[in-house]
This record gives sequence, C-alpha cells and structure tokens, in this order.
Amino acid sequence: MRIPRRSFLGLLASAAASTSLRRAQATPPDSPTPANDPLRPEFHLMPQHNWMNDPNGPIFWKGNYHLFYQLNPHAAVWGDMHWGHAISTDMIHWRHEPIALAPTPGGPDSEGCFSGSAVVDQGSPTFIYTGVQNAAPQDVTLHDAANKLRETQLLAIAEDDNLLRWKKLPQPVIAAPPAGMNVTGFRDPCPWREADGWYLAVGSGERGKGGCALLYRSQDLRHWEYLHPLAQGQPTGSTAADPVDSGDMWECPDFFEVDGRHCLLYSTERKVYWTTGDYDRRTHRFTPTRQGILDYGAYYAPKSFLAPDGRRILWGWIPETRPQAEYAAAGWAGCMSLPRVLGVNAEDQLTMRVAAEAEKLRGTPMRGTLKGGAQNLPLDLLHQEVALNLAPHTQSATLRLLVDKKPAWELLLDWRSGTGRCADRSFPLPARAAAPAQVRLYLDASVLEAFIGDTDAITTRCYTLRPSHIALEVTLDAAGSGAWTQCPLAAISPDRLTA
Ligand code: FRU
Repeated sequence: MRIPRRSFLGLLASAAASTSLRRAQATPPDSPTPANDPLRPEFHLMPQHNWMNDPNGPIFWKGNYHLFYQLNPHAAVWGDMHWGHAISTDMIHWRHEPIALAPTPGGPDSEGCFSGSAVVDQGSPTFIYTGVQNAAPQDVTLHDAANKLRETQLLAIAEDDNLLRWKKLPQPVIAAPPAGMNVTGFRDPCPWREADGWYLAVGSGERGKGGCALLYRSQDLRHWEYLHPLAQGQPTGSTAADPVDSGDMWECPDFFEVDGRHCLLYSTERKVYWTTGDYDRRTHRFTPTRQGILDYGAYYAPKSFLAPDGRRILWGWIPETRPQAEYAAAGWAGCMSLPRVLGVNAEDQLTMRVAAEAEKLRGTPMRGTLKGGAQNLPLDLLHQEVALNLAPHTQSATLRLLVDKKPAWELLLDWRSGTGRCADRSFPLPARAAAPAQVRLYLDASVLEAFIGDTDAITTRCYTLRPSHIALEVTLDAAGSGAWTQCPLAAISPDRLTA
C-alpha cells in the first residue's frame, strides 16, 4: 500500500507516485476542472472527482446493475478507502449514488474499507469486504514502509433495494489468517455458492513461497472454517520489499465458472493473471491447466459478476500512468474499464470482448479498405472505436496515433515473430493459423483499450492527444490487406462527469 505498490500507476511512465493512508491535500484552485479537462475519459465510468481504484461488489439487483469501487472522497490520490457507488440499467450509462461504505471510527475498518464482493444471501444483498485498522504488532497483516494494519473480513447487509444503505456487522467474520501462517497480506474476499454452502477465496501469500488464495467454507457467511489454499503460486525469486511487487501476495482473487471451465484471476507483480483449470467439487481443489496475462497494460484488480442473462462480466481498474503531482492537480484519477464478457475457448484460454451494450454509444460509422504500406485513416476524434479486420495473409500491422503528425501512441503487431508491442511493453502474439485477425481500439481521451482477437488486450494511457490534431496511421506489411470501420462513441453524460 505504500509508494512502490501504487507506483505501478507509473508502469508506462515514470510516476513518482506516493500514497499513504494519510489524507492528501485538496486540489489547488487553479487546476483544470474534471468537467473541462480534455484528457478525462467520457464513456468510461469514474467518480465525478478524486481517486478511484478497484471495482468492488458488482451485482444486478431488482432491475439495476450496481457497481461499487474503491474511492478516496477527499483527493485524487490513494488513501482513506471508501466504497463509491454507481447504478445503471445497461452497464454503460451510470448514475452516481452516495458513498455505500465508509470507515467506522473505532471499528475494524477504521482505516479503510478495502476491496470485496457482493452476494445475495437469503434475499438480501450482502457485502463481504476487507476492513483495515491500526493494530498491535502481532495482529498486523499488512506491513510495509507506510502501513502497519490488521486486515479482517467484514460483512454488511443492504437495508434497501437501491442498495443505498448498508448495515455493518460490528465484528469481523474472519478475524485473522489461518494459524501458523505468516502472511504477506489477507484481503479481497471472493465468495461463491456451492450445493453444500458458501465458499470464499481470500488473497494472501507468504514471503519466498509465492502468493495464494486461501479457501474457506461457511453455511451462513458469518462463521467460516479454513480449508486449504485454493491455489498456490511459486516462489518468484524476487526480493522486492513489497510482497505485491515480488509476487508473494495475490490481490483480488476472482474465482468463477464460465463455459464449463473454472477460472481464477488474481493481481500481483503489477499484472493480472488468469488461470483456467479443473475445480474438484468434492475436494475443493483447483488444478490449473493454463495461465496467461489478462491485459498487458494499465489494468488491475478486476472483478467479475454474473449478469442475469448468464454472461460473466468483468470490470477492471484503469490506473493513471502519469506522475502523481499531475493527476492530483487534475482532481481525478483512475477509471473503470469497459465491461468485458468473459469466456474460455477450446484451447482453455480466457477470452474477452467488450459487452454489446457499448454499441449503444456508436454514432454513424465510416468504413474503408486497407492495403500494404502506410495509410492515414480520417479519424481525428478523441472518443471513438476503430476496428481493423486483417486478411489471413497479413503478417504485421502498426497502428500509430499522430498528434500534429508526430507519433504519440503506437501498437505494433508482428505475427511473423509472434510479438506485439505497445508503449514499451512487449507481449507474445498467438499464432493465427491463417485466420483473419481483428484489432479493436476504444479511444477515450487519455484511455486506450486495445483488443487483439478475443484473447489479448492491452490498455494504455496517453496524455498528449488533443482534439482535432490527431490522426490514425495504419501500416500493414506489403502483402497485407483488410478493412477498417470507425465509429464515434458518445459521452455517457452531458457534463463530462460520467454520470
Ligand atoms: C488492489 C488493492 C487491494 C486492496 C485495495 C485497497 O489494488 O491493493 O488489494 O483491497 O486495492 O485500495
């Protein structure tokens, strides 16, 4: 929770980020306002002001989607975590609601309401989340340079059908990690229901042994029995001071079944891993068969939920990658990714595509063809979706956003060498076996969510784009060809405050 962990916000830039639980300075008066800042996204959900990080407790209840998220209501830097709340009928257009969870002075969440999940228990939406408080050294589970905190798992029950009021249980439902474990952390509970009761994965790990997700069982969400690790990582050999950086602490485990397979997501080493595999419902052991990286860029701590139509929808946090001084002055930091529909393909890979609801934002499309060499597409908008359909024989494609004719952002895809590159990040490109490739880009001011087929994604931030000065240049190898489609995407609110 201290500086280096949050400074992966600088994973694509050199952010000298500094975070602590202390409250930060308010935005200086001469800063741009969120409503007139051209770098602020217009169709990605985010609070009207200040800092957000992880999505928390997504749930569909009585006709509405509810999304909660880590919020610092005082400043655009991490600290004093609350749960913000937004409500929607389509997962795209949102209304901001009052804060759902705030720290209770003197309570087990007095220093912050950390991430968690929502389930329906006996007809009542219920949160299970991690509370943090200052504690005696023997009870501390989160220790780094800036923080010495005890993490416990807490319950809160909705008191109304709009999920505006929540009643907390005063005592933790899990007060300490399993006896004998010297944990690197103990947080971000993920519950699910099986025929014989509730199960819960909690993010944790041990120094030098790798991260893990600890598995618990309960009949009533209130009394929990520890079983064993649901999944266990490997020692990474890294000696980074922060166990999240060294891979010895897994944050935000998310465990679910999709397309008849089980999937575990977790966040560590500044990355989000997916693992598909077999879950034995008798022994409650998860045996991974395949692993990958969910998004190669600025994307962290995702959380999924089951939509009423059976789709498994994933939300992720898109952090800032510029220096803290800049985002603190801007008065806003972080946004939610677009909703991604998850699946598992025949090769056991996690697949994702942006939910069809996002198509509602589309304006009139433009279309054209692509041939070998460089060409400029007439796309000077800061908020748009671009799809390239590349013919099977296309070997390479480079997408370049130019600002006043100079490259500001670049995505290189080379299927010959099997590598992709974007903003100094390299990643493997799967073999395409003579199949066409689709590349889809969602550009929203400083946010770029890019998808290559349905298995690879890279989300990046670019803070130099300016309206009416940009162009998209696409370069294919000499023999390459394909087609492009572009659609302007509408803002989700009239005042640019995203609700
Ligand atoms: C992940 C995380 C979680 C924690 C929350 C605190 O980004 O560190 O592990 O619950 O953020 O804001």
